Amino acid sequence: MFSTNDIRRSFLDFFAGMDHLKVPSAPLVPYNDPSLMFVNAGMVPFKNAFTGLEAPPADRATSSQKCVRAGGKHNDLDNVGYTARHHTFFEMLGNFSFGDYFKEEAILNAWTLLTGEWGLDPNRLLATVYHSDDEAFELWRKIAGLPEDRIIRIATSDNFWSMGDTGPCGPCSEIFYDHGDHIAGGPPGSPDEDGDRFIEIWNLVFMQFEQAADGSRHDLPRPSIDTGMGLERIAAVMQGVHDNYDIDTFRALIEESVNLTGVAAEGASRASHRVIADHLRSVSFLMADGVLPSNEGRGYVLRRIMRRAMRHAHLLGAERPLMHRLVPALVTEMGQAYPELQRAQALVEEVLEREETRFRQTLDKGLRLLDDVTATMVAGESLDGETAFKLYDTYGFPYDLTEDALRDRSIGVDRSGFDAAMAQQKAAARAAWKGSGEAASGEFWFDIAEREGSTEFTGYSSTDGEGRVVALVQDGGEVNLARAGESVTVITNQTPFYGESGGQTGDAGTITMPEGLMIEVTETSKPLGRLHAHNGKVLKGKLSVGDTVHMHVNVERRDAIRANHSATHLLHAALRGRLGEHVTQKGSLVAQERLRFDFSHPKPLTAEDIAAIEAEVNAEIRANEAVATRLMTPDEAVEAGALALFGEKYGDEVRVLSMGRTMQGRNYSVELCGGTHVNATGDIALFRIIAESAVSSGVRRIEALTGEGARQWLVKREEELKTIAATLKTGPDDVKDRIAALLDERKNLERELAEARRQLALGGGGAEKAGAADENIGGVTFSGQVLHGLDPKDLRGLLDEAKSRIGSGVAAIVAVNEGRAAFAVAVTDDLTDRLDAVSLVQAGVSALGGKGGGGRKDMAQGGGPSGERAEDAIEAVRSSLQG
Ligand code: ALA
Repeated sequence: MFSTNDIRRSFLDFFAGMDHLKVPSAPLVPYNDPSLMFVNAGMVPFKNAFTGLEAPPADRATSSQKCVRAGGKHNDLDNVGYTARHHTFFEMLGNFSFGDYFKEEAILNAWTLLTGEWGLDPNRLLATVYHSDDEAFELWRKIAGLPEDRIIRIATSDNFWSMGDTGPCGPCSEIFYDHGDHIAGGPPGSPDEDGDRFIEIWNLVFMQFEQAADGSRHDLPRPSIDTGMGLERIAAVMQGVHDNYDIDTFRALIEESVNLTGVAAEGASRASHRVIADHLRSVSFLMADGVLPSNEGRGYVLRRIMRRAMRHAHLLGAERPLMHRLVPALVTEMGQAYPELQRAQALVEEVLEREETRFRQTLDKGLRLLDDVTATMVAGESLDGETAFKLYDTYGFPYDLTEDALRDRSIGVDRSGFDAAMAQQKAAARAAWKGSGEAASGEFWFDIAEREGSTEFTGYSSTDGEGRVVALVQDGGEVNLARAGESVTVITNQTPFYGESGGQTGDAGTITMPEGLMIEVTETSKPLGRLHAHNGKVLKGKLSVGDTVHMHVNVERRDAIRANHSATHLLHAALRGRLGEHVTQKGSLVAQERLRFDFSHPKPLTAEDIAAIEAEVNAEIRANEAVATRLMTPDEAVEAGALALFGEKYGDEVRVLSMGRTMQGRNYSVELCGGTHVNATGDIALFRIIAESAVSSGVRRIEALTGEGARQWLVKREEELKTIAATLKTGPDDVKDRIAALLDERKNLERELAEARRQLALGGGGAEKAGAADENIGGVTFSGQVLHGLDPKDLRGLLDEAKSRIGSGVAAIVAVNEGRAAFAVAVTDDLTDRLDAVSLVQAGVSALGGKGGGGRKDMAQGGGPSGERAEDAIEAVRSSLQG
C-alpha cells in the first residue's frame, strides 16, 4: 500500500524526474498577498511568477504546499468532522510551468503519473473541460484515449479557475475518480453530481489571463500551468478507502485520540475524533509557521479552531487537556516531510496545553449556560444573539463554537443579534473614550477600527510584507487618494511596521507599488492601541484605498531598536540584582540611537554600581543565549517571574520575553513585552552606559548605547583623547601624568603670583600707584589704599604691617578682584577707646554697594559688589574720621 508519505514523495520525484524544481512548501501565512488570510492553494506562493511581477524559481516547479481553509473566502471550518472530505488543513500537490509547457504536456504528465506510475484503473477516471475548450477535449481523447462520454464539458465557473477577485486565472480541466456504484452520486455536470461517488482528485489549470480589479482580463505574459491535487483525496483512492479520514495519517491521529480518551470513534464520538485530528493538524502547522493565538486576525482564527477542538475533547470526557498530548503522533506522521513541525514541537505543545487549561476554566460554565438557555428549545429554533455574545465575551466561546455545539440538535444561532450585541459593546467603548477628554478630532480612528478591525502586526518575524490599504488619512480626516508631494497616513490590514508603544519607537521604511508608488514612512504610530498608522510622504506615484502595497521596514534601524530594547531588559535585571528588588521600571524610551531607562531608586548610583551593572549586562551579551518568546495570561506570566512593564495595556494574553543565561531554573531576565527583540543576546554586541541622573525624587534615569552606536561613542571618545594628547604634546598614555604636572605647575605659579602681588602692594611701587600716602586727619594718622588683584586673604597681614608702620592711627585697604571689593579697616590699640574699626568698615561698605561688615574694634571686614567705587569707600572712612 502507498502511505501518504510515499505518495507525496512519489509525486515530487515524478515531476523532478521531468526537470521540475522541487520547491519546499511556503509558510501558511502568505508573504505576497494581503488579501489572503492563509495560503489556500499550491499556486499562491507563485502568484507573482505567473503575472510576471517576479522571476519564477525555474521554468518548471513542483511542490507539496500546506494549505489552510478556515477563514476568509474558502472556509471549510463548519463542515469539518461531519463530511468525508472537508479539512481545515490539507496538502496540495502541484506541478507548475511558468511559460514553459502548456496543455498538452500537462495532460500527458497527469495521465502518465496516474495510470502509469501509480497504476490507477483508466476506466475509473473522467475529465471535465471548460465548455469552449475544444483543444483540451481533443487532447484528452488523443492522449488518454478517453471515450467522449467521459470527457465532460462544463460551462460554469467550476471549470474556470481564478485565485480570487483578481490575479491569474484560466480555464481548467478536472480529473475525477469513480469510487464505484455502491456509492450514490452522478458524474460532474449531472443533476446528482454532489453525491460522493465521483470525486475530483486533480485540477489542471491552464493559466492564461490575469483578472484585474475593474473586471477586465489581460493575457498573461506567457501561458502557464498550475495544477493542484489534494493529497488526502488521492491517498484515499490509492489506499482503497472512500473517506479521507480513513487514510493512514488520519487513522494514526484518531487512534491516538481514542487511546488517550478511552472513547471509541463511533456514533456521536466519531465526529469529535475527526474534528480533533483535523484541527490538530491546522493549529500545529499554523503555530509552526509563526501564528500564535490572539483575539485578532489570524491569531483569532487559530484560537477558534483550537477551542472547537477543545470542546470536542471535553465532549469525549477528556479529564485533562488533550490536544498537546496528540502532537507527538502528528510529528511522527508528518515531521519528516515538514521539518518546521519538528522544530516547533515544544512550542506547539506548550501553547496548546496552556490554551486548553485556560479554556477549560470557562468551558464548563459556558456549556452549562448554553444548556440552561436551550433546555426547552427544539430543532429549527435559534439561540438569541445576546446569549451567544455573552458566551463569546465572558466564556471565550467563538461564535462558530456555539454554532457547532448546537448543530446536532439542529438549533441555529441568531447571527444578527450576536452582531448587534457586539456593536453595542463597541459603541460603549467609543462613548467611554469620548468621555475621557481626548480630542474629538481623533474620532475617525474609531470609524476605521470598527470598519476594518485592528491592523495585524506581522513584524515579529519579518520586516517585509504586502498590505491592503484600508484607509488614508490627511489633515485629520479620511481621504481616498494621496498624490506625489503630499503627506499621508496609511492604514493597511496588516503590516510588518511596529507602531510606537511600550516605549519603543515606531518603525520607518518604505511603502511601494510596482506601478511606481514610493512613500517614505518616517514613523509609525499606534492610534487606539490597535491601528498601525504609517506616517510619511508620497515621493512618487499615487495611492488609493484598496491598493495592495509592498511594505519594507528599514532593517538597519529596526535592528538597532531591537538591540536597544533587549538591552533595556538586561539592564533592568542587572539593576535589580545590584541595587535590590525595589527597582522597578518607571518608563523607558527605546529608539534607534539610544535607550533610556527610568527606575525607582532613592539615590544616585555610585561609579562602582554603574561599572558593575555595565559589566554584567555585557557578560550576558557575550553569553549569546537565544531569546525566547512565549504567550501567557498576565497571571501566568507573573508566576513565571515576569516583571510587568510600565504603562502597557494587556489583553487576554501577553508576550513573555526570556533572555540571558539560566540560573536556578530561571532566565536572567523575564519580562512581559510586546516589543521587538534580538534573536540572541549576542546581537546587542556592546552595551555602554553614558549617563546617570535624577528624573524626580526617587526616580533615576540611565541612558545607554548599544552595538554600533556604542562603538561610535567609544571611538569619538578616543579621538578626543588623541586630540587632547596632541595639544599637550604627548601620547594618550601620558595624558594623565601630563595634566597632573600641569596642575601642579599652575598651583605653584598661582602661589608665586600672589606673593608677587603682595610684595608689589607692600613695596613702594604699588602703594604709590594706589596713591596711598599717610595722612593726618584731625590728629589721627590715616593710611588708605586701593589694591587691585590683591587676594582678600592678604588684607589682614597688610593692615598689620601698616599699623606697625604708622605706630598709632587707622589703616584701611580695599582689595578689588574681578569687580568685587573686599574692604578692611584696622585701628591701633591706643585709639580703640574712641574709634571703632567696625563702624568705620560699615561706613565704607555702603559705598561699595554692600551691607553690614563686622569684626572687632581693632580690626573689621566687609565687602560689596561695586569694586569700581573703591575710592569712595576710602573717602567714607576719611569723612568718618573728620566728623
Ligand atoms: N490552483 C488550482 C486549485 O487550487 C490548481 O484548484
